[in-house]
Amino acid sequence: MKILAIESSCDETSAAVVECGEVFEVKSNIIASQIDIHKLYGGVVPEIASRKHIECISQVVDEALATAEVAFKDIDAIAVTYAPGLVGALLVGVNYAKSLAYALDIPLIAVHHIEGHICANYIDNADLKPPFMCLVASGGHSTIVKVKSDSEYQIMARTRDDAAGEAFDKIARVLGLGYPGGPVIQNTAKNGNPEAFAFPRVSFDDSYDFSFSGVKTSVINMIHKLTQQGNDVPVSDIAASFQYCVCDVLAKRLVQIAKAENIKTITLAGGVAANSLLRELLLKYSHEEELDFYYPKPVLCTDNAAMIAVRGYFMLINQNVAKTDLNAVATKDL
Ligand code: KG4
Ligand code: ZN
Repeated sequence: MKILAIESSCDETSAAVVECGEVFEVKSNIIASQIDIHKLYGGVVPEIASRKHIECISQVVDEALATAEVAFKDIDAIAVTYAPGLVGALLVGVNYAKSLAYALDIPLIAVHHIEGHICANYIDNADLKPPFMCLVASGGHSTIVKVKSDSEYQIMARTRDDAAGEAFDKIARVLGLGYPGGPVIQNTAKNGNPEAFAFPRVSFDDSYDFSFSGVKTSVINMIHKLTQQGNDVPVSDIAASFQYCVCDVLAKRLVQIAKAENIKTITLAGGVAANSLLRELLLKYSHEEELDFYYPKPVLCTDNAAMIAVRGYFMLINQNVAKTDLNAVATKDL
């Protein structure tokens, strides 16, 4: 069956057509990024995000249909991200999807954004089956989720403060590298020494939780100190050491939890999952610990509608459909 999915939770307006069944075939996955606009402000401005979604959603959906070479009449169901995210941004996608599903008289499926990110792993990895452990690391979330079945999730660890992506964005800003932080730090780190600085790695005795505010503060203090003393700031070394610190904590914790829970498969999701060092470290650690390691390609790690279609399919076959009173929700746990 063909699912048309819509994603508008943050600063990307995306629509995708995915042929769903035993395998998932992405017929189109159009992503209109607003990054160039938000860059001017050093981060996402919610009001601007909502307006931009309104401006381009029709065009993005039309393009998704045209690229997939289908018409509205060929679509079997509409899936849309309804939570969590910027409420004004979510509302644009939710209202568009509701109207479309009503007009076409086809099912509407309300998808949780993080469940969508996790489901990106099923695209291109036909042999992946639950149970598996998934590290979800994005601009708003850093969690390790035990995926017990297609609809049963258990959070094993979460951040006590900043999300990993948020820390990347903040450090990139103080280093003057721009927004979003992940890709620019990854690029800058290529010329740096990851062991130049040992930034703090926080862990807790009683849980697997993360904390990234300590490393963030430590990097910021170091930059201030160097600047006050009139010294050059070794941007590449700081970027490389910061990236190594965050990615190594995430990678080791994912492997540690999988082993403790006797889960043999680990996966990645969310924007930070596109990070090449994180993937490299996990390839190494999963090999050492004899774990299977699956990950989506980078374009399916950052926000996109194809992942929403896949999650929508699992919900639809479980008759989990939404009504036309569906609303957007800013904060919602898995
Ligand atoms: O999943 P996503 O596209 O949006 C949210 O749901 O938040 O994630 C965006 C986050 C941003 O914080 C961005 O800096 C980070 O993912 N990111 C990366 C990389 N690409 C994007 N972080 C590290 N390395 C990357 N290559
Ligand atoms: Zn996301």
